[in-house]
Amino acid sequence: MSKSEKSRETEHSESRKLPIYQHKDKLVQAVKENTFLIVTGETGSGKTTQLPQYLFKAGLCRDGRIGVTQPRRVAAITVAQRVSHEMGVRLGEEVGYQVRFDDCSTKDTMIKYMTDGCLLREILADPSLSQYSIVVLDEAHERSLNTDVLLGLLKKTLSKRSRGRKPPFKVVVMSATLETEKLSSFYENCPVFTIPGRTYPVKEKFCNLIGPKDKDSSVYVKEVVKVTLDVHTNEAAGHILVFLTGQSEIEKACDLLFDKAEILDYRYDVHDRTVEGLLILPLYGSMPTDQQRQIFQPAPKGVRKCVVATNIAATSLTIDGIRYIVDSGFVKQLNHNSNVGLDILEVVPISKSEAQQRAGRAGRTSAGKCFRIYSKDFWDTCMPEYTIPEIQRTSLTSVILTLKCLGIHDVIRFPYLDCPEERFILTALKQLYQYDAIDRRGDVTRLGRLMVEFPLPPNLTRALLKAAALGCEDVMLPVAAMLSVENIFIRPGKPEGQKEAEIRHKEIAACAGSSNDFLLLLCVFEKCRSSDNPSAWCKEHWIHWRAVKSAFSVETQLREILLRLKQNDFPHETFEGSRSELLRQCLCLGYFTNVARRYIGKSFCTMDGHGSTVLIHPSSCLFGQELHLDWIIFHDVLVTSRVYVRTVCPIRYEWVQDLLPKLHEIDVYELSSVAREEVTDEEMAQWEKKEAAKRQAATEDAAKK
Ligand code: CDP
Ligand code: MG
Repeated sequence: MSKSEKSRETEHSESRKLPIYQHKDKLVQAVKENTFLIVTGETGSGKTTQLPQYLFKAGLCRDGRIGVTQPRRVAAITVAQRVSHEMGVRLGEEVGYQVRFDDCSTKDTMIKYMTDGCLLREILADPSLSQYSIVVLDEAHERSLNTDVLLGLLKKTLSKRSRGRKPPFKVVVMSATLETEKLSSFYENCPVFTIPGRTYPVKEKFCNLIGPKDKDSSVYVKEVVKVTLDVHTNEAAGHILVFLTGQSEIEKACDLLFDKAEILDYRYDVHDRTVEGLLILPLYGSMPTDQQRQIFQPAPKGVRKCVVATNIAATSLTIDGIRYIVDSGFVKQLNHNSNVGLDILEVVPISKSEAQQRAGRAGRTSAGKCFRIYSKDFWDTCMPEYTIPEIQRTSLTSVILTLKCLGIHDVIRFPYLDCPEERFILTALKQLYQYDAIDRRGDVTRLGRLMVEFPLPPNLTRALLKAAALGCEDVMLPVAAMLSVENIFIRPGKPEGQKEAEIRHKEIAACAGSSNDFLLLLCVFEKCRSSDNPSAWCKEHWIHWRAVKSAFSVETQLREILLRLKQNDFPHETFEGSRSELLRQCLCLGYFTNVARRYIGKSFCTMDGHGSTVLIHPSSCLFGQELHLDWIIFHDVLVTSRVYVRTVCPIRYEWVQDLLPKLHEIDVYELSSVAREEVTDEEMAQWEKKEAAKRQAATEDAAKK
C-alpha cells in the first residue's frame, strides 16, 4: 500500500468515528423524503465533509450534481481537498470547488463545494439550477448576506419549479444548533434532523487584560500573545486555538510568538515536559492553499500546535485536538456605518453567543479551557447577546441588483429570513440608480445587466465599464484586479524592515508620480508583469508576489468576462486626454459617491450628505500632500479614533460636477414605491411631474438666497 493510500485508509476509518456516521442511512432517507431538510449538529460532527458523500454514494445525484455552499472561500477549498482525498479522486474531477476567481471544477464534478456568492451567480445564468439535483446551504447560522439571499431565492423561485421537476430538486440547510426552528418554519415547517454530538465541559476564565475602553489592535495582539505563551508554558499537552481579527494581526501575533517561543528553555520554563515545541500556524481567509493544508496535518510527537485564526475556526473548519482557546474578544466585521454612510470593515467586540461558540471549540475531544483576554466588565458592557445577520448591517447594492436581474421587482417583500431595514434597501436602490444600473421605475438598465456579470463591487464595475466603453480597459482591468486581492504592500512589523520597505514603496510611488494610489497599483501591476523575474522584483520592492500573482489571474478572468460582453451590443464612447486623466475620469463614475473636498487643514469633508470629516491614511502616496489637494475620491475607509480614507485619487471638480446632483436628486422614499410594485406609465408621468416641480422650487429657493 502506498503512503497516500495508507493515510486515506486511516482517514477513512477516522470518518467512521464521526458522530454523523451512525445516522448515515436515516439521513439519506430523510433527504429522499423531503424537498427541504434542516440538518443540525455540533461543529466537527461531520456534516460538511460526510453528508455530501453519503448522498453521492446513495445515488442521489444521478440526475444532477450536489452543490454545497460555504460562506468562506478557505472553507470551500480545504473541505473539497479533504473530501476528494477521502474518496480517492483527483480534486477538480468528481469532487471540486469554485470560489470567486478560482474555479476548480468541471461539468462532470458531482460534489461541488462553492462559496454562496458563486451559487448566486450561477442562479443568474440558470435560474432553475438545472445542473443540480441537491443544493446544500452550509453554515446557515453564520447568516452571511449571500446565504440569506439564497435561502429566500430557493424558497421563492425554486420551490415552485422543483415540484414539477423529476427527480425533484432538493434543498438541505445545515446549521449549528442556533436558528434551526426559525429555518424550519421558514421552509414550510420542514423536518429538522439533529445529529447528537458529545461535548466535554470547558472551563472559562477572564484574564482581565482588556477592559471596556481598549479597542486598539496593537493592545489586544500583545495581550493575546502573552496569554498564549502562558498557556503553552503552564498547561498540560493539547493544542491551542487563538482567535484574532484579521491577516495583519494574525501575522503580527505569529511573529511575536515565534520570537518568544524560540527563547523558551524547555528544561525550566515549560511545565509539561511532554511538549517540546510550539508549532505556530496562521489561518485566515486569503491564505495560500498549500499553507492551509498544514493546519490539518497532525503535529509531530511532543509538539503543541498553536493555530492563530480568524473567526473561520469558530464553525467553518474544525481542527482536531484543540484543548485550549485564547479569545481576543474581537472580530473584523463589515458594517454599514451610518455616520459615514459607507460599508466599513471594523474591529468590533464579538457577541456573547459567538464567545460561547469559540469556547466550545476546546471541548470536542476532552475537557478544555478557554482563556478570555478581556474582563467580565467588557463582557457585560461591550458584547451584544447575538451577532446581527449581515443582511441587516451591510450594503445591499449588489444583492438588490442581482434580485432585480432575476426579475424580482418587489425587493421589499422578498422572503427574507430576517428583513433588512427598509432604508437599507432604499439606499441600495438609490445607489443603483446613481450608477445608472436601474432607471426611475426601478427596472434594470442595459448597463445594469452588464454590471451584474462582474464579481466586483458596483462602483468598481461602473468605472470598469466606462473604461471599456472608451476602449481603454487596459488601464482599469489591472486596477480592479489589484483591488480584488489582499493587500499587496508588505509592511513588516520590525523597525529595520519597516524603513527599507518604506523607501522601496516610495520609489515605486515616484514612478507613478506619487500622485494617485490607483495609478500606483496599475504601475506595480505593469512593472511586475514586464519584469523578467517578477517574484524577485516583488521581493526587492517589498511587494507580496502571491497577491500580485493572483491579481494577474483575476485580471485575465475579468478580461474574459468583458470580451464575452463586448461580443454583443456594448456601449461605445470616445475620449481625448492623457492616460492618467482617463483613469481618473473613469474612476469618478464609480466613486463619485466617495468624493471629498478639502476642508480645514489636512482634513477633507465628504459630499454625500453626511459631510463627514476624513483624513488621508499614512499608507497613501498622497499622505503629506494634503495642502496641495482640493477634490479627491477614495476606495475605502478605515475607522480608528479617526476616520481615514485609503487608496485615494485627486480629481477635478468638473469631472464630478454633473454627477454630484445625483447624490441628492432622488428621494429614497420615492423609491419605495418602485421597490414594491411595477409602476404604470401614468404613475410614472405623475411622479416625473412632481419631481420636476420639486427641482423648480429648489432652484427658485436657491436663487432667492
Ligand atoms: O461540518 P462539521 O462541522 O459537522 O464537520 P466537518 O467539517 O465535516 O469535519 C469533520 C472532521 O473532519 C473533523 O474532525 C475535522 O477535523 C476533519 N477535517 C479535516 O481533517 N480536514 C479538513 N480539511 C476538513 C475537516
Ligand atoms: Mg461544517
